[in-house]
Amino acid sequence: MPLPIAELHLHIEGTLEPELAFALAARNGVTLPHADTDALRRAYDFQDLRSFLDLYYALMDGLRTEQDFADLADAYLARAAAQGVRHAEIFFDPQAHTQRGVELGTVVEGLWRVLGRSEERHGVSPRLIMCFLRDESADSALATLKAAEPYLDRITGVGLDSAEVGHPPAKFREVYEAAAALGLRRVAHAGEEGPPAYITEALDVLGVERVDHGLRCPEDPALVGRLVRERVPLTLCPLSNARLRAVDTLADPPLPAMLDAGLLCTVNSDAPAYFGGYAGDTLDAVRRTLGLDEERLRELARNSFLASFLDDDEERRAR
Ligand code: HPA
Ligand code: ZN
Repeated sequence: MPLPIAELHLHIEGTLEPELAFALAARNGVTLPHADTDALRRAYDFQDLRSFLDLYYALMDGLRTEQDFADLADAYLARAAAQGVRHAEIFFDPQAHTQRGVELGTVVEGLWRVLGRSEERHGVSPRLIMCFLRDESADSALATLKAAEPYLDRITGVGLDSAEVGHPPAKFREVYEAAAALGLRRVAHAGEEGPPAYITEALDVLGVERVDHGLRCPEDPALVGRLVRERVPLTLCPLSNARLRAVDTLADPPLPAMLDAGLLCTVNSDAPAYFGGYAGDTLDAVRRTLGLDEERLRELARNSFLASFLDDDEERRAR
């Protein structure tokens, strides 16, 4: 039996496996930029975040209909459930689809066709977090939030992703204020490739409750102290960081030392179709590389539920 965990940093578009990408492209008459799945897999040799994002957005072109999004979510949930995931707070990137002429309603309704039945079918309680692309304008993010108003019963929170450096959190102050006024929870990617100051800004200016990645926080001891004091969770993604060369090895940053410092760290898969592992695979890789014992693994699992947006009763039931 795999350890029950909550997954808090998972981009649904990042679960698009090569086989499904080609099947969807064929179904929709779309030509992908690689000849076949082998050629595509050979392209998964990333230099940095940008080189990953270029491929990630290109492959989304096969996603066109509600059924495509439903198939994507169903494939993820089956894999995640088999690896111990009981609760998943799932990111999606509306602008990556609306920019291609796919309506926001198609994305949300398609995903929800499956997420709405996920508890009974897969034993995974789902939440949706809508991310704004930080390399797009603040106005585009505001327009996206406005377009999402009819679907807010299906959306738990907002997040911020895509190319980080040069796009500080403060650029999105207004849309985060509007999201908070609508009762949405707030998270943001910060300190993945960007400096620790972006983490501070995400807390102070955007009011985030959780930091996605937060990898570079150890560079600022005062920030670490604050994250510990305020119990701000970090959704670390070790396989992603290694594959995007944000770090040299899985032992960097030192997860055991971060846990010992009192940081509320969680371990997540980010974009598992691209980075070599789903939630359980990721925990396993970290366990093997860092020699984590059972108690450490249970701590990470406990943290994942504590850091989730489940309330206490829901949390107990999910564990
Ligand atoms: N960082 C930034 N953008 C992303 C990521 C990430 O980890 N995954 C998908 N888009
Ligand atoms: Zn991410």
